[in-house]
Amino acid sequence: MTSTDRRQFLTTAAAVAAATPFAGAFGVGREDTLNLALVGCGGRGRGSIGDTMAVNDGVRLVAISDVNEGKVQAAKANLEKSHGDKIQIADEQAHVGLDGYQAILNNPSVDVVHFTTSPGFRPRHVLEAVQAGKHVFAEKPVCVDPAGWRICKEAHELAQENGTAIVTGTQYRRQKNYVEAIDLIKQGAIGTVKGMTARYCSTGIWNRERQEGMSDAEYQINNWMHFIWLSGDQICEQAVHNVDVMTWLLGNPTTAYGSGGRFTRPEDSQMWDSMSVDYTFDAPEGERLCSFMCRQIPGTAGNADNMIYGSEGVASIKAINGGTRIVDADGKVIYRERGDIGVAYRQEHKDLIDSIRGGSPIVELQDTADASLAAVMGRVAAYTGQKISWKQITESKLDLFPKGLSLDASLPNDGYAIPGRTQFV
Ligand SMILES: NC(=O)c1ccc[n+]([C@@H]2O[C@H](COP(=O)([O-])OP(=O)(O)OC[C@H]3O[C@@H](n4cnc5c(N)ncnc54)[C@H](O)[C@@H]3O)[C@@H](O)[C@H]2O)c1
Repeated sequence: MTSTDRRQFLTTAAAVAAATPFAGAFGVGREDTLNLALVGCGGRGRGSIGDTMAVNDGVRLVAISDVNEGKVQAAKANLEKSHGDKIQIADEQAHVGLDGYQAILNNPSVDVVHFTTSPGFRPRHVLEAVQAGKHVFAEKPVCVDPAGWRICKEAHELAQENGTAIVTGTQYRRQKNYVEAIDLIKQGAIGTVKGMTARYCSTGIWNRERQEGMSDAEYQINNWMHFIWLSGDQICEQAVHNVDVMTWLLGNPTTAYGSGGRFTRPEDSQMWDSMSVDYTFDAPEGERLCSFMCRQIPGTAGNADNMIYGSEGVASIKAINGGTRIVDADGKVIYRERGDIGVAYRQEHKDLIDSIRGGSPIVELQDTADASLAAVMGRVAAYTGQKISWKQITESKLDLFPKGLSLDASLPNDGYAIPGRTQFV
């Protein structure tokens, strides 16, 4: 069977199963079992497989891939221990290297691929997966530059045409206290939204030092957080969650104007320590402002809150398990809900598998690509010191992905951005 034949077969099998008294009883080993594969066997890769196993029957992991052989072996052993016979990875389906994902895409028995590498690879991996007819789970952010955003746009449109699903790792879009609050605000619970603040301020982040014998490419791919072509800096890699709240509520920003700098990062890191960006949004009732800030400095106070100010009330939506509280103009609480991020992480995978089995695959890449590009827009505004419009960023030529990448490639470190010297391209 080709991937397309297999997709049609699974949809028919799901419809037949739904018409029997055993509807929904998909068991491992049955022909309608969905075969999963994992590209990127780090923390979130293993986590995403754990999440789907926790909420879905009739799924098994049949192939994995990573650039690092140790990560492949560790993930295989770790997942087998945790999930028993739901992990059925034959030795020849444990791939090592930059092209391991292609072996997975060429395997017709694979139905769904989880992409959990560093973000720089995401747009090309996802587009190729959709071209190969695979359903996709793509961790956030889904792009780190405008070139990647355009590739995501192509992948989104193709997925809508060829019936493949793309669910993304923006778990807050499935977290009860976020979903209900955003719906209430859109329905007018706090009157007209006048503006908001969003923060993603946390302590430090890991740094994986260069080991003897590593090529530039091996070092940068391993220490990916610190290289912008791979992580997009903190505003993309981590703070995109709260940029996404902003775009979810207000749409794509009209302009970004920002500042920031670096004080504590390792010498060869390209990351900044902090960034503050004013995003504006055009609206019929006048321009709205989101004051956004992100920071990763050890010993500083954390804050990952979204505050939304309306003409008739204020909403506070806090990240992780911080919960939501909405008050009216008199300070009376009109909505309160606790947060449970663990449930949201798992819901992504239930929705993905249900949508495939139900024959209406979810395709949500564009929203996450737009949030990722809004984060890029803020970074570019801060790096260059210029005010950047949405039109400018969507048309920007910035393409950070190295040409002809191989694991032994020499990749000179261009250093970090300096406003006034770093140019918009
Ligand atoms: N949704 C969330 O809350 C959440 C939380 C953590 C991480 N993430 C995202 O998940 C992704 C992975 O993060 P992580 O913490 O698991 O990182 P990690 O470093 O633990 O894992 C990444 C893995 O990908 C491998 N890899 C890198 N490039 C590869 C390639 N081209 N082909 C195959 N393997 C490759 C690395 O060797 C590594 O094992 C990132 O995009 C991150 O932003 C999301």
